[in-house]
Amino acid sequence: MTTQQKKINAAKMALKRIKPGMCVGLGTGSTTNEFINLLGQEKQLLKTLRYASSSIQTETFAKKYSIICEDIDQFNQLDVTVDGADEVSRQGEMIKGGGGALLREKMLASISKDYLIIVDDTKMVDYLGDFPLPIEIMNFSPNTTINLLKKAFKAYHLDPEIILRVNSDSSSVITDGGNLILDCHCGQILDPNLLKKKIEEIPNVITSGFFLNMISSVFVGDEKGSTEVFFE
Ligand code: 5RP
Repeated sequence: MTTQQKKINAAKMALKRIKPGMCVGLGTGSTTNEFINLLGQEKQLLKTLRYASSSIQTETFAKKYSIICEDIDQFNQLDVTVDGADEVSRQGEMIKGGGGALLREKMLASISKDYLIIVDDTKMVDYLGDFPLPIEIMNFSPNTTINLLKKAFKAYHLDPEIILRVNSDSSSVITDGGNLILDCHCGQILDPNLLKKKIEEIPNVITSGFFLNMISSVFVGDEKGSTEVFFE
């Protein structure tokens, strides 16, 4: 069984939660794309829905099924957002932003009644931090920001390597919002709540890839199918 098939198994379970007339947030990444592929087969259902997207990449992908995404400002609330993740802890804490869409993903999550995460079983972890924590910052002074971040991490006994995300031609990755991304190679993070607060207090930081206390359910795809893990 390939990882892609596990992602499809998770996406299938999330699809069952989509009901006619809903406003749906679409995340970003290969797992969300599998969800969109499945939704694309539901010709009658998809015509009844309204959509907001977390990235230009997703917006473009969805168009092949004639799924047209509206500006997020068109919605006071979304019924549901379906998104992937880079790491999910047993407590429902997440690291996201591997695909660089963390800011818009967090906006969608913040206005969703139900926030459904779809992952293959390799994404479930005992603690966060093996995956580098993405931090979206304004498009200036990355080096000064890295120094300030290092101080913040040090207060929590962490000394990560912090790297400006670049493209294959070494130019800086620029997010859909025109910002930069720093990837922090932390290792085991014992208390993400306190660390998140400290990081997000730094003036140049827009948001971090910590998504804490946000999930409604995680659908974990494996060889046999998918399991739903609930969070309060
Ligand atoms: C993008 C994300 C993605 O949800 C995350 O990177 C998972 O991607 P994939 O489904 O391709 O493994 O946070 O910013």
